[in-house]
Amino acid sequence: MDHDFDDFHGFYLFLASLGLIWFLALWTLWLLGTWAARSRYRLRPRSPLSSAARTAVPGVSILRPLKGLDTNLYENLESTFTQEYPNFEILLCVADEDDQALPVVRELISKYPHVSAKISIGEEDVGINPKVNNLMGGYRSAANDILWVLDSNVTVHAGTLARAVDALQTPTKSGKRVALVHHVPFAFSTESRVGSRIDEAFLNTNHAKMYLAINTIAIESCVVGKSNLYRRSDLERVNGSLKPITSTEPNAKQDGLCGLAAFGRFLAEDNMIASALWHELGLRHDLSCDVARNVVGNMSLRDYVQRRVRWIRVRKNMVFAATLVEPFTESIVLVAIGSSSLKYLFGLSRWLCIVIHFCMLLIVDLDVYTSLAGHRLPQSIKWGFLAGWVARELLALPIFILAIFGNTVEWRGLEYEVLNNGEVKYVSNRQSFFDSFEFLRRYRPKKYQAVETEPVLP
Ligand SMILES: *[C@@H]1O[C@H](CO)[C@@H](O)[C@H](O)[C@H]1NC(C)=O
Ligand SMILES: *[C@@H]1O[C@H](CO)[C@@H](O)[C@H](O)[C@H]1NC(C)=O
Ligand SMILES: *[C@@H]1O[C@H](CO)[C@@H](O)[C@H](O)[C@H]1NC(C)=O
Repeated sequence: MDHDFDDFHGFYLFLASLGLIWFLALWTLWLLGTWAARSRYRLRPRSPLSSAARTAVPGVSILRPLKGLDTNLYENLESTFTQEYPNFEILLCVADEDDQALPVVRELISKYPHVSAKISIGEEDVGINPKVNNLMGGYRSAANDILWVLDSNVTVHAGTLARAVDALQTPTKSGKRVALVHHVPFAFSTESRVGSRIDEAFLNTNHAKMYLAINTIAIESCVVGKSNLYRRSDLERVNGSLKPITSTEPNAKQDGLCGLAAFGRFLAEDNMIASALWHELGLRHDLSCDVARNVVGNMSLRDYVQRRVRWIRVRKNMVFAATLVEPFTESIVLVAIGSSSLKYLFGLSRWLCIVIHFCMLLIVDLDVYTSLAGHRLPQSIKWGFLAGWVARELLALPIFILAIFGNTVEWRGLEYEVLNNGEVKYVSNRQSFFDSFEFLRRYRPKKYQAVETEPVLP
């Protein structure tokens, strides 16, 4: 009997130690993210490129995929026209002539006649991703090598482009060239609907904290595609296979279709572009000290849940092991593990541990908010935000369980099946799985809707 007890004791001791290590590791990651937010975003120095001569800076082509009237569209687009950078052009890409975004675009073009801005109408059918199809025209006609792709519902500060070009031209500490500069999303909601509040609380706290922590450690590509700056000449060398280029020639490219068109087969094309530049070319990413301000649309609770489910399912097919770890990084599961371990090892009160954990988490999350926003949480949204934050924490596990079973995602009322490696295929119903590609194309959604992505955790 004694012997058995010893065996179990040893096993529990092992589990409790493992649990404690995990608990402390996650907290270290969270604190790292909080520290990164503080050190990166609290001061935003002006880049010298802002006031340089036109010929002294590399030209940039800004690509804006548009579809319909997003909330805040005018302000979002205007923020690209007012960039303080001496050499850029704007390419506004819509799929068809009747697009509701066009009047807004024309108004801005006449308001800023000195800005070089062109409208690109039409789509090129390179794959299932309507955003890529929509962007192809602008991508081909861009006059500059550096491209800045900005989603339609993103607003940026006027100094963003200059600082991003600076970051693109500065090698990392390890001496690697930077292939892509991205911006952490910072959401703001003009709606008080439940889903919008939860999403806002999520993006501005937990999401930002993890995003910054992972990008500080930088052992794997972790990028959302709201605002990405990269070189067309780099993209033209990769094909989305994520296999490193084997040739040692300086400008060797992959086999098969390369460039933007090669990413039309992915739903999360922006994640894949970032990963491809990282893995195929062996280059790195950097964040500048700006955020991609993102207006959260009018979302119900159901919309929020659906969106989370969609991205967990996409991610599951890209990085399966990392997705399985995800619930253990969520606050409630984590504190269950941490408090049990501490109770077993040191006899600490479970409730005390839980209370301290959540108080500290709230302090840390509000600090991240303050760093990114540049001000404290406004009194006017305080309670809505806090309720959204609590709901987010409570919903994390149920949403994960819902998402992990099943492979179809609903995206703007259409159903897709997620294939391995994040490629997707449209399914009108189960049988169409066996149908030919031509058939699928016919049912390809005609409308571009901004593709929402979450970072793919390594
Ligand atoms: C990409 O290129 C690699 C090697 O250059 C090749 O093995 C792979 O099949 C290509 N993938 C696609 C999708 O073309
Ligand atoms: C961005 O815009 C799309 C519609 O174009 C919308 O569905 C999405 O919710 C918006 N993003 C956020 C974070 O609200
Ligand atoms: C948001 O959705 C609700 C419910 O569908 C609706 O009553 C409200 O007018 C919407 N707000 C906007 C700005 O579209």
